[in-house]
Amino acid sequence: MSGVGQNNASLATHNTLKLRSQASTLVELNKHEQLDAIFEHARDFKLPVVPLGEGSNVVLGEHIEALVLIVNTQGITLLDTPDNAVYVDVAAGENWHDFVVHCVKQGWHGLENLALIPGKVGAAPIQNIGAYGVEIAPLIARIYLTPLPGSELDKDPNIQRVLQHTDDGNLFIAGGDCQFAYRDSIFKNALRDKVLITSVRFKLGTRFEPVVTYPALRDYLSRQANVSQLDQANLSANDVMNAVVSIRRTKLPDPVELPNAGSFFKNVVLDDEQFDVFIKRHPHAPYYSQPLAGIDQSIQYKIPAAWLIEQRGFKGRYDGNLGMHNQQALVMVNRAAGDTQGDAVIAFAERIKQTVEESFGVRLEIEPRRYSC
Ligand code: FAD
Ligand code: EPU
Repeated sequence: MSGVGQNNASLATHNTLKLRSQASTLVELNKHEQLDAIFEHARDFKLPVVPLGEGSNVVLGEHIEALVLIVNTQGITLLDTPDNAVYVDVAAGENWHDFVVHCVKQGWHGLENLALIPGKVGAAPIQNIGAYGVEIAPLIARIYLTPLPGSELDKDPNIQRVLQHTDDGNLFIAGGDCQFAYRDSIFKNALRDKVLITSVRFKLGTRFEPVVTYPALRDYLSRQANVSQLDQANLSANDVMNAVVSIRRTKLPDPVELPNAGSFFKNVVLDDEQFDVFIKRHPHAPYYSQPLAGIDQSIQYKIPAAWLIEQRGFKGRYDGNLGMHNQQALVMVNRAAGDTQGDAVIAFAERIKQTVEESFGVRLEIEPRRYSC
């Protein structure tokens, strides 16, 4: 043990793929007040600080030369309640799903479709979590943050433009400045490795407006109500949340039983021109289209990566201890908890990427963040 945290500590229980990994130093953050001492330690030992929530979206190499900070801070504070809305501040270490359940109980609406996504609140904005027709982006009012040691935020005018200060000196960035996009945000780009998200302020609705555009969700709810045309007026937030939980339980492996990091690749996004070429060659491929925000008449097409992977025969297939799940071809699973290494995960992923690219002419992009592998 060092004065701060634990040296050469195993991270096997801090990543849901259950990879064998070790951090130079591991520290659990329970109170904001610990941060000064932790950051001083990181500076003294010249270690970068890597924040982690539940490790459900990372691929960890064997040794992480860093001070890994497990964010456990707690607290949900209700702020103003203007007409038909509530503002809620949530500490970064709160469990995401528990927060969604809490909101549904309180009658704070908007997050129902995002139930059962693993992880903590502080990580949710990083990749703008999304599921079943909803992304968190429009529900985030602001994000409070603290610069990580060595981040030199003041040297980058693009970052300075979006950072704001509260009257009592706290730093935040408005939701509208986070450059949210599909599985993307400023935290994966200009602010990558530069800040610790300490809490998130959500703006939620007090009137429930169900979002049942996602076909699997609409079909599930219609089947449950035994109707062909869903009557949305009769749906409660609880109905939608429970439906999402049920659908996810049938498709996605529980990381506790079968270690995984959710979708291993992003879905493939194509513009009009790329889509034309693709669909002529593969007319039976499923796809979703949506207008591209801010660009007149441009449409973006999403091809499910799971379909591409399944077509190439990887669904349910293992390479040693790693395989693509037999219910959801996009999810890589690890059947040797605590034994498999990040390098093996990346090697398997690269083989899938290469096969898909050779067959379909499109490039898959790995979704989880890689560290030292
Ligand atoms: P971690 O994996 O611990 O961290 C992820 C990244 O965020 C790392 O780079 C880390 O450094 C950074 N980070 C974490 N906390 C902070 C912080 N406080 N400040 C700064 N940086 C931070 N994602 C979806 O979008 N939709 C889904 O439907 C979905 N389903 C999933 C299903 C399963 C079974 C699994 C295992 C994963 C799924 N995911 C999904 C991915 C994952 O749950 C989300 O990305 C989640 O937000 C990650 O949270 P975490 O706390 O585990 O983050
Ligand atoms: N499909 C297959 N084979 C499969 C699974 C799916 O061909 O094994 C095809 C089908 O055509 C299906 C389509 O893919 O209709 C979409 O499948 P699904 O509804 O399961 O969603 P997805 O596109 O595979 C995305 C997200 C998930 C999110 C769900 C629900 C990405 C990378 N993944 O998966 O997010 O939960 O939609 O909205 O966008 C995650 O990020 O970790 C994650 C699980």
